[in-house]
Amino acid sequence: MSWFDLKGRDLIAETDWSKEEYDIAMKVTDQMKGLYYSGKEHPYLKYKTFAMLFFAGSTRTRMSFEAGMTQLGGNAQFISSNTLRLSIEDKPGAGETVADTAKAMARFCDGLGIRLLDDQVDYYGHGDLVIRKFAECAEVPVINMASDINHPCQSLTDIHTMHEKLGHVKGKKIVVSWAYSPWVRGRCSMQGTALISAMYGMDVVVANPPEFDLDPKVMQECKEIAAGSGGSFEVVHDMDKALDGATVVFPRNWYTGKRYDIGKEEELKIAERYKDWCYTAARQKKLCDPGYLLQCMPIDRGYEVESEVCDNSLSWIYDQAENRLHTQKAIMALTMGGRL
Ligand code: CP
Repeated sequence: MSWFDLKGRDLIAETDWSKEEYDIAMKVTDQMKGLYYSGKEHPYLKYKTFAMLFFAGSTRTRMSFEAGMTQLGGNAQFISSNTLRLSIEDKPGAGETVADTAKAMARFCDGLGIRLLDDQVDYYGHGDLVIRKFAECAEVPVINMASDINHPCQSLTDIHTMHEKLGHVKGKKIVVSWAYSPWVRGRCSMQGTALISAMYGMDVVVANPPEFDLDPKVMQECKEIAAGSGGSFEVVHDMDKALDGATVVFPRNWYTGKRYDIGKEEELKIAERYKDWCYTAARQKKLCDPGYLLQCMPIDRGYEVESEVCDNSLSWIYDQAENRLHTQKAIMALTMGGRL
């Protein structure tokens, strides 16, 4: 494996890149952050364009990619899917095909980011399928900016933030816990963080009520990756049991495996049985060691996490949000730039 392997590469699932490739991305992230804080110009992607196709809303992803491309001397172009004539149904009469859209877009940009999940897809896995179709057709790197399955830019940010805060992460316990929220949220961030934490040898515990198991295929991947990295992986159905001795806690809502069959209202009825699944200050103090809050945001304060926990000294959330900027600059420089 050489440093140059990342030039031209897509990043769609966490498992698309190896741990060694993430090590490189983290080294470049540190360099990017150093340059940012020392006020040194670093136009590594001068005159280049990163096109960002959003089917769903965003605060952090959009802003961090846009700011990142400005700092790299290029431009990020925001494109809302409802301003295109594209249809992801890919059938005659529906709209422009994914293939034609991808091939045409690639003629104007040097990299393409796509966000497609939640209400914008018809079934679980649909977002991933469409993003992969874009990658197959576009002759530029395609970066997943959050699909229904994965969120690799967030996952790299999470593992980078944990390294920054803890020094080393191997053997440290991270709990990825379901939490109640009426938002009925996707699974990508939790699945992604579980995968990358397993890759780095952490003791990963996923906690959820029985109806809310994450994607079994991803859970199996976590188990296999943990077995090879010297970490461990476990799924438990009791939040308090899971939190026992946790170094890091990622509490967030996600939907059941039936979300696209039963609809949001039925989902909510199931979720309401578990309103006590909230990461509270009492749980943090009583059970964790010390239970740093890692949460990719947006947070449903008061439901997913007690507000006090978002704001106390164990909360990493704003540093974590900022790190999106530095990690994504590294991803773009490595995939869209590369050796001169
Ligand atoms: N964490 C994250 O992806 O945030 P946004 O939805 O605001 O982009």
